[in-house]
Amino acid sequence: MKSRSRMLPGRAALGAAVVLPLALMFGAGAQAAQWENGQELYDNLCGKCHKPEVGVGVPIQGRGLPFEYVKAIVRNGFRAMPAFPEAYIDDESLAQVTEYIASLPAHQPKQK
Ligand code: HEC
Repeated sequence: MKSRSRMLPGRAALGAAVVLPLALMFGAGAQAAQWENGQELYDNLCGKCHKPEVGVGVPIQGRGLPFEYVKAIVRNGFRAMPAFPEAYIDDESLAQVTEYIASLPAHQPKQK
């Protein structure tokens, strides 16, 4: 038997499920500069997976990766790597992090 009291909480939850992500998206988009510079973005996001000492993602520093390639991976995701939309990392920040990782020394695997 479907009573009204059982229906209402479900509808309220559905409303929240639609409105909340939109609020979060606009909240993120309203920030002018999400990232201070390339180093800040690398240290606080990309590097959490990509720094050689972390090793979740392959090292991306010191490889001179081109902007278009980095952008394509970041916008679309790549296998285990999640995608990040422009509201989260704008193109300018991506250009900065591309420059920053290219300026870092290449990772030297330990010699046996
Ligand atoms: C949650 C962990 C994680 C984060 C955060 C992350 N990545 Fe990745 N990334 C990965 C993984 C894992 C791969 C490798 C996927 C595979 O090969 O299966 C990858 C692959 C890549 C590649 C391709 C590397 C190659 O050798 O071709 C690039 C470029 C890249 N990431 C850039 C970035 C940038 C720039 C950021 C920050 C904006 C970032 N990633 C943030 C996990 C992450």
